[in-house]
Amino acid sequence: MNITYSVVGSGSVGKTLASLFARAGLDVLIANSRGPESLSALAAELGRHVIPATVERAFEADVIFLAVGFAQVKAVTAKRLDWTNKIVVDVTNALQPAEVREAESRGLLSSEINAEFVSGAKLVKAFNHLPVRQLGTNPSMDGQRQVVFVSSNHADASATVAALATQLGFAPVELGRLDEGGAPLHALHGKPGGLLFQNLTKLA
Ligand SMILES: NC(=O)c1ccc[n+]([C@@H]2O[C@H](COP(=O)([O-])OP(=O)(O)OC[C@H]3O[C@@H](n4cnc5c(N)ncnc54)[C@H](OP(=O)(O)O)[C@@H]3O)[C@@H](O)[C@H]2O)c1
Repeated sequence: MNITYSVVGSGSVGKTLASLFARAGLDVLIANSRGPESLSALAAELGRHVIPATVERAFEADVIFLAVGFAQVKAVTAKRLDWTNKIVVDVTNALQPAEVREAESRGLLSSEINAEFVSGAKLVKAFNHLPVRQLGTNPSMDGQRQVVFVSSNHADASATVAALATQLGFAPVELGRLDEGGAPLHALHGKPGGLLFQNLTKLA
């Protein structure tokens, strides 16, 4: 079965993710708040693999990248009721003080809050640790691949996203559960966790 992919959010991160799919020759739907027409120039620039869509249509994909601000996740995800069988890749970083406070006041990681908004889906934290200007830059380096960390409470979903990361040209490193190996991918106690903004490579 062919896995289908989408990116919701077409800001700097969403566009960069779409460009990675285009580079790998994998189809991806892309959506934002302004509708598919607003994405026609991006699609023309990136080529036929990048397909503008509504948010509702993008949420029909098997693997959905959430590339919106942490504060927008609740409103965006309200556009779908049934998240069963979906894999949601949480690319958000809750680094702003109010966002961090909201998560920590409940004793939760930001990804655990986002998981509640997509209840029934398997949430995977991945592709969030690199500053966008570095995301996808290293696969061109000879003999090494840029690391993408992958964390989830669902091992099968982690494996799916790790396989995708490989297809996109990265070296995935699986960290296990969100609140265990994945914790340093989050803002913790008001500061970026230890793996955030680390640009690491692995020998190919
Ligand atoms: N910047 C980085 O270096 C970096 C690196 C890793 C992770 N992150 C995280 O990645 C996420 C995105 O960052 P960014 O810099 O790309 O943000 P951004 O430039 O502000 O883009 C946000 C995108 O979300 C869309 N959006 C907002 N509300 C929406 C809604 N209700 N329905 C549909 N789309 C909606 C916006 O749509 P419109 O275009 O229509 O306004 C926009 O395309 C953030 O959580 C950030 O923390 C950022």
